[in-house]
Amino acid sequence: MELILDSAVIKEVEEIASWGVLDGVTTNPTLIRRSGGDFEETIRSIAMICSGPISAEVTGMSSSEMVKEGLDLKSKLPENVIIKIPCTPAGLSATRSLADRGIGVNVTLVFSVAQALLASKAGASYVSPFLGRLDDNGGDGLSLIKDISETWKNQGITGCKILAASIRSVHHVEMCAKIGAHAATIPYGIFTKLVEHDLTNTGLEKFLEDWEAVRSEGRA
Ligand code: E4P
Repeated sequence: MELILDSAVIKEVEEIASWGVLDGVTTNPTLIRRSGGDFEETIRSIAMICSGPISAEVTGMSSSEMVKEGLDLKSKLPENVIIKIPCTPAGLSATRSLADRGIGVNVTLVFSVAQALLASKAGASYVSPFLGRLDDNGGDGLSLIKDISETWKNQGITGCKILAASIRSVHHVEMCAKIGAHAATIPYGIFTKLVEHDLTNTGLEKFLEDWEAVRSEGRA
């Protein structure tokens, strides 16, 4: 499963990239707002740090506005930037136009199997079902990922990756991998928790203590 960072904060991208496990970065207008940086500069900096797909979201509402923004971003930003488009009728139409030009599209704000199917039909390279927000609204986010994953298998869909978004816990990440998501976009706070385990810490402390004893006995 691709591990993607859901952040527009350069320091966070640098830190996770330094682990050697980062497959891409997603941003959205809220994350750009929170980061405090200029939109294009931020995306450009992220794309220099991580060579995987970097999602930059359009904000136009009509298909022609989205296509115009997408083409503009693609002309100005590094090659690995892909265009994030909301799952609306206009968004599907824009996805088709951009995909037909060979541009990668991440269809976002997906909350049902039907929406995911439409995104794949329109030529999206990623579809982003929002687990956490579905849970927050009385739904079952993990079941949605499982249902989309089964649908992809049964329909033989290969060109469009399931990118689990709106992740709220380590458990979400583990389950997404288990049930067949191709990618998960993970907030920084959850990403750093992925590597943590109490037994790793206590085990390491004991190893270091014993090694110190070996050294003090002149055996190393
Ligand atoms: C990523 O593509 C989404 O924009 C993001 O995961 C949304 O997460 P949130 O529901 O925590 O805002």
